[in-house]
Amino acid sequence: MKLVVTGGAGYIGSVVTSQLLDAGHDVTVVDDLSTGHEDAVPPGATFVRARIHDIGDHLDGADGVLHFAAKSLVGESVESPELYWENNVVGSFALLEAVRAAGVPRFVFSSTAACYGEPDVSPITEDVTPAPINPYGHSKYAVDLMLTGYARAHGLGATSLRYFNVGGARGRFGERHAVETHLIPNVLMVPAGKRERMNIFGDDYDTPDGTAVRDYLHVVDLGRAHLLALDTSEAGRHRVFNLGSGTGYSVREVLDTCRSVTDHDIPADAQPRRPGDPTTLVASSARARAELGWSPEYGIDEIVTDAWDFMRSGVAAERS
Ligand code: UFG
Repeated sequence: MKLVVTGGAGYIGSVVTSQLLDAGHDVTVVDDLSTGHEDAVPPGATFVRARIHDIGDHLDGADGVLHFAAKSLVGESVESPELYWENNVVGSFALLEAVRAAGVPRFVFSSTAACYGEPDVSPITEDVTPAPINPYGHSKYAVDLMLTGYARAHGLGATSLRYFNVGGARGRFGERHAVETHLIPNVLMVPAGKRERMNIFGDDYDTPDGTAVRDYLHVVDLGRAHLLALDTSEAGRHRVFNLGSGTGYSVREVLDTCRSVTDHDIPADAQPRRPGDPTTLVASSARARAELGWSPEYGIDEIVTDAWDFMRSGVAAERS
């Protein structure tokens, strides 16, 4: 297929672009490089530096769009909500209008567990009513709602993939954020010699060891779900899938995995909770398993191992 990937110079977008190219697709990456890196665009993809607001005629003849480009820092979204409405909502609206004008039939969107806010059920199915608690979650859910309308009114085959916690790397494509907030890369900075100690944000949660529980998914498994979403897309239907492993790990369990993978005694300090962090977020991926035929292959050990190899060398054995 002829595909356009927005945000293909970023972490998840570059990994999925590499998988699409390996599967034989023709890929154009559109990225404004506001947070991405041009050298992360996989060789073989055509690169266009542009904002999603100004995608112009780059969608002509496309069979599908995979839309990763977004601002994605929860804390920043609370401080500067306008950035999230302008980039994630206004930008996505402009992109969808361009998709409609060009008659692109398929659209796969990076949605998020943040749509669910702080649900009191676990695991979380797609039937849980979205109730985001910060502007990042609001902005992603707003686009999910747009897709429902565009599918119904304009026949778009749309899929929202609600990611839980994504980690790991695919060879030289991995996580390189200027501001790193995510747990695994922050922990690995200690054995990498980039920081002395790691912080545990909250050890007084109502969980077995007092630290928050999340559902970690390998980026390669996440990427495969995008290829399946494209292949199974249906005109006029908006599908929503939660993507996670279905297993929760506490911050302390992730820390212990990092210690054993790196063979480093990573010192850790308990700190106050990070505002807005839910206690537990674990996905039910039953719908993705049933309708996409998807299931994750890799677990927390491979996620940490590949993130560590990426951080150390930027080159790791590829998992396909
Ligand atoms: N954490 C630490 N120390 C750190 C970094 C994180 O203890 O140095 C904790 C956090 O407080 C949280 C857990 O580790 O309890 C995971 O934190 P991440 O920042 O890695 O991930 P989040 O669960 O906060 O974020 C994920 C997605 C976001 C999404 C959010 C919705 O990465 O895109 O879920 O809640 F918005």
